[in-house]
Amino acid sequence: MTLYTLENVRQRYGAREVLCVPSMTIDEGEVLALVGPSGAGKSTLLRLLAFLEAPTMGQVGLHLNGTRPVTFESATIDIRRQIAVSFQRPLLLSRSVRANVAYGLTLRGQKDDARVDAMLERLKLDHLADARPRTLSGGEIQRVSLARAMLLQPRVLLLDEPTANLDPHNITLIETFLQEQRRETGITLVIVTHNIYQARRLADRVALLYEGDLVEVAPKQIFFDTPADARTQAFVSGTLIY
Ligand SMILES: Nc1ncnc2c1ncn2[C@@H]1O[C@H](COP(=O)(O)OP(=O)(O)OP(=O)(O)O)[C@@H](O)[C@H]1O
Ligand SMILES: [Mg+2]
Repeated sequence: MTLYTLENVRQRYGAREVLCVPSMTIDEGEVLALVGPSGAGKSTLLRLLAFLEAPTMGQVGLHLNGTRPVTFESATIDIRRQIAVSFQRPLLLSRSVRANVAYGLTLRGQKDDARVDAMLERLKLDHLADARPRTLSGGEIQRVSLARAMLLQPRVLLLDEPTANLDPHNITLIETFLQEQRRETGITLVIVTHNIYQARRLADRVALLYEGDLVEVAPKQIFFDTPADARTQAFVSGTLIY
């Protein structure tokens, strides 16, 4: 089933067009990796999928329960709550790790200590429950951000470089968590990554953005082994310098 449809989507900031996606779909339950050089428009596309911004042109539609697609304009708060985002630079409150992880639930007027504890444990944050964010490592901050997002039991999770600059231990921990969540909940994941090995490990399909253009989106095996576009070939072979 199709979860997102993008049609003739363009995003401009001032006079500059930073994203152009003529057509693309994202399936319910798939893991889609977005790759591409810095400045290619990956985070911009993620913000559009999160309904944090409306596109300058075109439509980003979210299909829930086979109804008409909802868009930035028509998405209610209940619909927005089905989309969780873990940002490239997560903002944490200067409260305990536990309070940060529980924050989304608190905002919704819910309290569930058992679920918060279980999530802390799964992301190996239990021993840090009372720590303050300023004392955390980069990997721990990403894990808190991920725990906070997943605790909301979203239908789709948008991840912006969740493992950038992290060590292998944290990368494995986060990737294992994402794979488990996917198995258990059937969640749809869109993951921005600079790491093509990560895309290989996690994704069903991979999309290359280059200078704002959606160059190619393909099942991972095709993307890596027999890409259609010369830029994809250069990207996966490491000759596209970025
Ligand atoms: N709010 C904004 N106003 C003006 N320009 C913006 C805005 N947001 C992004 N841009 C520009 O749009 C382009 C794409 O940015 P984006 O953050 O989507 O890139 P990216 O692919 O995520 O890069 P990186 O890998 O470095 O995170 C960049 O040139 C950026 O400077
Ligand atoms: Mg980015």
